[in-house]
Amino acid sequence: MNLSQANQELDILLNYLKNSRGCDLTGYKRSSLMRRFQARMLQLKIDNYQDYLEYLQNNSEEWLTLLNTVLINYTGFFRDPESWEYLATEIIPQIIVSKQSDEPIRVWSAGCSSGKEVYSLVMLWAEILGIESCLKRVQFYATDVDEEAIQQARQATYPSTPVRELPLNDEPTLVMSTALGYAENAHQQHATELTGLSPYLLEKYFHHDKQGYTFNLQLRRTIIFARHDLMKNAPISKIDLLVCRNVLIYFTPEYQATIFVRFHFALKDTGFLFLGKAESIFNNRPIFTPVSFKHRIYAKGLDLELNDHLLINPKLHGSRSKERLDIKNSFWQTAFEMNPLAQIAINLNERLVSTNESANVLFSLTLNDWNLPFNQLEPGKLVGEMKTFYENPHRVTLTDVEWSTATDTKYLDISIVPVYDKKKTLLGAILIFSEKKS
Ligand SMILES: C[S@@+](CC[C@H](N)C(=O)[O-])C[C@H]1O[C@@H](n2cnc3c(N)ncnc32)[C@H](O)[C@@H]1O
Repeated sequence: MNLSQANQELDILLNYLKNSRGCDLTGYKRSSLMRRFQARMLQLKIDNYQDYLEYLQNNSEEWLTLLNTVLINYTGFFRDPESWEYLATEIIPQIIVSKQSDEPIRVWSAGCSSGKEVYSLVMLWAEILGIESCLKRVQFYATDVDEEAIQQARQATYPSTPVRELPLNDEPTLVMSTALGYAENAHQQHATELTGLSPYLLEKYFHHDKQGYTFNLQLRRTIIFARHDLMKNAPISKIDLLVCRNVLIYFTPEYQATIFVRFHFALKDTGFLFLGKAESIFNNRPIFTPVSFKHRIYAKGLDLELNDHLLINPKLHGSRSKERLDIKNSFWQTAFEMNPLAQIAINLNERLVSTNESANVLFSLTLNDWNLPFNQLEPGKLVGEMKTFYENPHRVTLTDVEWSTATDTKYLDISIVPVYDKKKTLLGAILIFSEKKS
């Protein structure tokens, strides 16, 4: 089979996954995708994409196995230790100095895989701030698109057996950091699930039993784990340190540019972004500037402009009319996300579909809230029964709704607007909250 035929067949396969499984791999680099698909096909002794499509259609669990092969969740503790060393000695102290002594700190590991990255972060902050202060001040977020990886990360147990799979062109590095006293296992010969951890850190932060080594439960509670797709979901906001390593390499430059705009939204002006050693930022405008290119650590650069906002919708290529439609959608999306009034979209099942930054701040919404029914969330309690609204959907405004928070009482006007698709089928509602100034 020639390359263009293979490409066409792969396109059909990707469209099938997108349309039937909601699993959109089209933003990933072609060459990596082909390599990973072929690795899986080789295991099944299938030598072309067409036959593999048939196999996928006949085996309902196969797409999950494929996804795991494609996203290859290889990870490690303190992966690229010299960069972690730099983070510990140069970056984290700057974050601490920029804050009051009791001010909260927010750290996000995006694409955390089985959790080794976020636990490395927790240990680093605990070593620098002290465990007590880390427990009080630091909120960690650990997200991944892969539900199974998140599940593993939550369990936090790592056996001391050799690792099964290494990423392509990536060997576990055995150069060990010295500043934090985790140099002792530099002599290690074989990579295990615990590579990167010294006896000192293992002893201090892990509990050992026959299952393996399990990360300290109390410190684990400082982490919120959630499924989050960097290509689709709104970013977490007000982040001081955003660690997204060895994830972006799998995306095309267009999608990477989209994600960098989202990361710009996510970070505080004084925040830092830490990428993997094979990754760098290629935006047309320098919205991030390198603090250390060697260690792939960046600070915020220029403010975002309208064109950057438009990138939030990555599909700005393709046919002319589609392009116009995408630009139009991007305008609406940007208008929603940037509106100073808090806005929340919910579906007919009364689950969150979208929240803008102002709503996240006003109601302190976190990723966990996405799993809850709307009427259990603070804004939902203010609005009351949505069922009645859905029975007779029309625009309404509730005025002077009293909201007592822990610190004061606010008064809000709340507009509820039904949302329909083109065929006039009701999809849900948008709620707009405007706070009355006293
Ligand atoms: C190679 S692992 C890197 C893990 C860790 N960051 C590290 O450097 O050790 C890549 C991770 O990115 C996750 N990933 C891939 N696509 C993603 C997406 N669209 N959104 C969020 N995570 C994604 C994969 O599930 C996988 O866990």
